[in-house]
Amino acid sequence: MRISENKIEEIRSAANIVEIISEFIQIKKRGKNFIGLCPFHNEKTSSFTVNEEKQIFHCFGCHIGGNVFKFLMEYEKVSFVEAVQDVARRVGITIESNDNFSSEKQSQLELLYDINNTVAKYFSDNLIIKKDGEAAINYFNNRKIKPQTMRSFGLGYCFPARDALVNFLKDHKIDIEKALLLGLIGSSNDGRLYDKFSGRLIFPIFSPNGRVVAFAGRVFNEKEGTAKYLNSPESPIYTKGRILYGLSHAKDEIRKLDKAILVEGYMDLISLYQGGIKNVVAVSGTALTEEQTILLSHYTKNIILLFDADTAGIKASMRSIEILLKRDMEIKIASLPRGEDPDSYIQKFGKDRFEEIIKKAINFVEFQSAIFESQGMFDEPSTTADAIRELVKPIALIKDELKRNLLIKNIARKFNLRERLIESELDKVITQTTKLLTGEERAKLRQNNRNEIVKDDSLIKKTSPAVYNLEREIIRLLFEGNKDIIEFVAAHIPSHEFSIEIHSKIAEIVYEACLANEEIIIAALLEKFDDDKVQSYIIELTFDKYRTSKKWDEIHPGASQEIILEKYAKDIIRKFKVSQIDYKISNNRKEIEQTSNEEERFDLMKVNRDLEKEKSLIINDLN
Ligand code: UTP
Ligand code: MN
Repeated sequence: MRISENKIEEIRSAANIVEIISEFIQIKKRGKNFIGLCPFHNEKTSSFTVNEEKQIFHCFGCHIGGNVFKFLMEYEKVSFVEAVQDVARRVGITIESNDNFSSEKQSQLELLYDINNTVAKYFSDNLIIKKDGEAAINYFNNRKIKPQTMRSFGLGYCFPARDALVNFLKDHKIDIEKALLLGLIGSSNDGRLYDKFSGRLIFPIFSPNGRVVAFAGRVFNEKEGTAKYLNSPESPIYTKGRILYGLSHAKDEIRKLDKAILVEGYMDLISLYQGGIKNVVAVSGTALTEEQTILLSHYTKNIILLFDADTAGIKASMRSIEILLKRDMEIKIASLPRGEDPDSYIQKFGKDRFEEIIKKAINFVEFQSAIFESQGMFDEPSTTADAIRELVKPIALIKDELKRNLLIKNIARKFNLRERLIESELDKVITQTTKLLTGEERAKLRQNNRNEIVKDDSLIKKTSPAVYNLEREIIRLLFEGNKDIIEFVAAHIPSHEFSIEIHSKIAEIVYEACLANEEIIIAALLEKFDDDKVQSYIIELTFDKYRTSKKWDEIHPGASQEIILEKYAKDIIRKFKVSQIDYKISNNRKEIEQTSNEEERFDLMKVNRDLEKEKSLIINDLN
């Protein structure tokens, strides 16, 4: 069934996302948002946020988000249409049959999905056709793929006749132009149509929601000159870099275990899945893309790379590490014995032995240094220095200060070096790679003495120095870019609550960006302020942030980064609120002393008593 866009919008706008989500999970009001524990990943602090005004939800932990339909699709595991119908029922809107047409574009895409679906069924039915399909079945049998697994992954076969699929399409009156667009068939110079996958084993590629968006075809017998795997070209429903093979099968398990294993091949994933390891996705052929990383981060932040032990595999691991680090994913690298891939390993040694391999996964510093070691780079002082410099580079990609500090410690310990030395290497890399400042901005910065940039007394006069300094500290905390923390601050301190106008403005923009799931990039943030003074102010605060996180590390040695940050945020918000109230109270006191009007004095005293009450509430709430 298809529902018109107008109707969909009518239904969506009649529903209140807060009410609907409240029926499934507990959320409570914080500031202008509602927050609660995210139902889509394991967490202890609430990062799941519902914005009533915008009618959207977003989890700052696992980055899933969308409107009310998206919530139901994910939570109830239903299709879009079912989600719309569900909401319509709740709000008492009936969907008439004449609502069941859709906009041109939507139906075009649906037609493409329909074709892929039909063709996938055709390919998989081919397997059970006697004689012709037997060779393909034998192939999968030889590779110990069970019939149930074949069904579950929709494995199939495209007959070797050059036009088997072409004829099927014609017989079933399927739009040939669209089949060409999907890359299922090709058209030769003389206009003859032919099967693109003829004679290949078929692996349908699914969207995260389980729709067939493309196909991969594997040759039976590797011959020189033919690619082992052939993939559908990109199409309106298939963008290579946005699909992870196996995600639709693996996503629930990935969420449950809060951990994903990343492998290279289709067969690797299928064998692992069959062997009971179900939290696996495959990058399949291409290098891991940023979009795939974001997609994966909706389900977990913990990734174990398990690539082949050959040089190509190691190169792919290194590239993937960089992309994953940029997204602040937690990465470990597992390795198989030479000559094995995940498929061969689990088939030979079974699930338990495979899990041991995963348990032995190491962090990327260990991984890279092992590679450098095998290349003999630590045999001489000069190459050792190069190697350490290389090890430091990826650390610069990590946005999280505390994580960086831990890794620096790790390297220092491993090579028996002073931490300071590694920090200065890191600083060099950061300066080289940072896009934070343009040359002009850097010059400006040099000109001004760091802490003198905005020592504008007029700012401080409006509030107490304590409040002013705490506000600055909170803005720094926001610049750390940790979404959980930003959301936490936003929930407690609405942007207008800052006493300094610049702070309000910065907070507003950061909150906004965070809610829109945009990254907090200081360089981009600067663009939003025309005023030079404000820009310098931001830069100055940014530079100061090193100091801040070092301090946390000292205060809470050994604690996990999440706990430290959360503690720190709570602490500073409490101090800020308390100082703000203290400032008001002391102002009132002055007035109480000065006024001769009894009534006014009485009112002011009442206000102060209320402020004291508020203060103790805050202290309780944020302890
Ligand atoms: P491999 O060559 O390691 O193949 O390529 P495999 O996955 O182990 O497959 P089997 O076990 O030989 O059947 C790893 C992945 O790289 C992509 C595919 O996604 C493959 O699964 N690839 C490989 C291609 O896209 N095209 C190719 O020609 C080869
Ligand atoms: Mn293989």
